[in-house]
Amino acid sequence: MSITPLVMGNWKMNGRAEALQHFLEDVQLTTKVDTALCPPSLYLASAFKAGLAFGAQDVSAETDGARTGELSAAMLKDVGCAYALVGHSERREYHAETNELVAEKASAAVAQGLVPVFCVGETLAQREAGEVEQVIAEQLAPLLALPDVIGKVVVAYEPVWAIGTGKTASSEDAQQVHAYIRTQFAAVDAKIAAALRILYGGSVKPDNAAELCSMPDINGALVGGASLDAASFNEIIQAAAATVAA
Ligand code: 13P
Repeated sequence: MSITPLVMGNWKMNGRAEALQHFLEDVQLTTKVDTALCPPSLYLASAFKAGLAFGAQDVSAETDGARTGELSAAMLKDVGCAYALVGHSERREYHAETNELVAEKASAAVAQGLVPVFCVGETLAQREAGEVEQVIAEQLAPLLALPDVIGKVVVAYEPVWAIGTGKTASSEDAQQVHAYIRTQFAAVDAKIAAALRILYGGSVKPDNAAELCSMPDINGALVGGASLDAASFNEIIQAAAATVAA
């Protein structure tokens, strides 16, 4: 089965309204690739571009109520969001998000019709200790226990040591982890595993996107720094599009 690639930008805590406006004018979309942007959430309500989907960088695990500072999945849906990142390594590190909480966030997103982009990835120390598969399995375990959720997620493999460092996993190393993620899903449901979109993230740039996206189990990219510049992001979209049969 061929899976339509998804190229998604994550602006993290960067950008202003004017920069977003310029980006939306300059970004060039193609029907061969699904595209989405996760700007800081307060810009979501005013962001629009035909053919471009939007996502939040995080979502509360709770429904509306007493959670100061949080945004519910229903609110994100209300302003036109299609996706929500959950479990980005920066949330796991700076906000002590656990694997269980991340799965709860994915569940809350799905309950409101948002597609969670479930982020996993190992640190350099874990990679050097040979613990990659164990770490990924632990991160996925609470998600894989949710039969109503697993068919509605996108997974993003983002090795922590490759984020914002200019170091990318080699396409072979990334492919190996992506294949492992797919087998973890296949152990629960082969059909869901076959259709699962698994994005690679971590220093994706115009010059490495084509090779990464050509790997059989890499179905697109989650792009940080290079998504702040529409020209770079356009090149990454084009690289992903080139992997799609005409
Ligand atoms: P960089 O592309 O800046 O390495 O960031 C990756 C990332 O964390 C996207 O979510």
